Amino acid sequence: MLGTSCSTRIAVIMVGLPARGKTYIAYKVSRYLDWLGVNCRVFNVGEYRRMYVGTKKLHTFFDPNNAEGMELRRQCAMRALGDMFLWFEDLSSGVAIYDATNSTRERRRYIYETCRSKEIEVMFVESWCDDEELIEKNIREVKRISPDYRHIDDEDEIVSDFKKRIEHYNELYEPLNCRPGGERPHHASEMLIAGPNGFSSIAAADADVYDESALTYVKKINVGSQVVINRIKSFIETRIVYFLMNIHIAPRSILFSRHGESLYNLDQRLGGDPALSPNGEKYSEALPGLIEKLMGDQELTLWTSTLKRTIQTGSKLKYPRLQWKALDELDAGVCEGLTYEEVEERHPEEYAMRNENKFEFRYRGGESYRDVVLRLEPVIMELERQQNLLIISHQAVLRCLYAYFLNIDPQDLPYLKIPLHTVMKLTWTAYGCDIQTYKVDIAAVDTHRPKTTSHKTSETGSASPSVGSAPFRQTGVNTYNSKLKSSIPVSRSGTDIGVSPGGASVATSGENDKPAAKPNASKGSI
Ligand code: F6P
Repeated sequence: MLGTSCSTRIAVIMVGLPARGKTYIAYKVSRYLDWLGVNCRVFNVGEYRRMYVGTKKLHTFFDPNNAEGMELRRQCAMRALGDMFLWFEDLSSGVAIYDATNSTRERRRYIYETCRSKEIEVMFVESWCDDEELIEKNIREVKRISPDYRHIDDEDEIVSDFKKRIEHYNELYEPLNCRPGGERPHHASEMLIAGPNGFSSIAAADADVYDESALTYVKKINVGSQVVINRIKSFIETRIVYFLMNIHIAPRSILFSRHGESLYNLDQRLGGDPALSPNGEKYSEALPGLIEKLMGDQELTLWTSTLKRTIQTGSKLKYPRLQWKALDELDAGVCEGLTYEEVEERHPEEYAMRNENKFEFRYRGGESYRDVVLRLEPVIMELERQQNLLIISHQAVLRCLYAYFLNIDPQDLPYLKIPLHTVMKLTWTAYGCDIQTYKVDIAAVDTHRPKTTSHKTSETGSASPSVGSAPFRQTGVNTYNSKLKSSIPVSRSGTDIGVSPGGASVATSGENDKPAAKPNASKGSI
């Protein structure tokens, strides 16, 4: 899907002490690759430990002098690795991310050699950080919600225990490509090393034959203030490196809105470059008030497409702006300017094929959803680098962007409900994203078309789109009345958001129109 065949199998091996954002990185990379159509899966050793050994393990369990703890952790690491190899077995291409501390050269050597014996490429990704403030913040944000500490209420107690856990790892930690026996102390007798049955303890002397300077790796130092890149080879690896260089964890918000209702929307016409309808213009007038309410005096950059309806929608906003061709609506080719009804009458085969597989279907002379995902890749890359953003774009394009953040399956993506006159606010914290929906109280037609419904039976435009039934997960739906200059929270029962390290919020329950966001794994390290 990346426009080139990815015929390699790559194991991305995470490296680094706990609380260095490895899991966050792992899930972000996985989401990005997944979205681009690369088969990708995270194997998080911490999850295996929780599954097989249980949670509630305090720092003593991680002490290198705790032989039982070491052995149990070794087994969990082996299980995860075994599953990774099993996953690779039937694949000609794909990327597995092995998320654990992998903090000794011995362990890395074992993983590297085993991967190579199975013709799997290896790329190490290390997150190294000595910024105490960042580490403390990370511990507080992540461990507070970690399943390992659910039984402890006192946050300070959690932080203190976790710091001790980090210290245990630090006793053995050897950063990638550090000189053996050099800058880090060796505890050879306690190091985990690979034997025929997996990791075991051996003398340090054997470690010297394994030369990390010759391996493929990326080392992110202090959340990217420095990035060391070594021997990157394949196309996929370069994409991963570039992505890693762009992601940051500074808190920020991304707002999405479709353009105001257009003249074409009134007739359910596709594409074109129409102006706004009278109600669409009202939306553009109401927008500055809502955005100001949501963002206060924070800085914001506005991105629109190059089409009239998005530019007009943003015209009353006083923010620096940028027009992206890549944010233009999906090109409907020979069907541009037609109504769905006319498409069914004039191009019945295309109409049927689109209904059959909407994600893959490419309009004659136009695009498919898959094409749109690909052309949005630079937008995603830039979006990851940016701070606060407001993106005013189109139905199909915003579906693709939501799918990226919420990990939606390609087959479900083209059916996401993205109503007109609605702002979605995604607020980034270090380890997740909350979503709030704000419906502006100005009528607009409903352009959503459910699957397998012919135009004859489809919903007609309604004056009040059902924002609340949107399939993406949200913390709440708010109605914004521009005249009252206020937003009225409409609390919805059962939409608690569990923040996942992968970046998407996952509602534990709620009004769950399909499709659901793909499940995210829990947090933590082995
Ligand atoms: O109907 C509005 C619109 O933005 C069209 O311009 C575009 O072709 C269409 O939505 C995309 O939605 P769908 O893929 O559901 O037809």
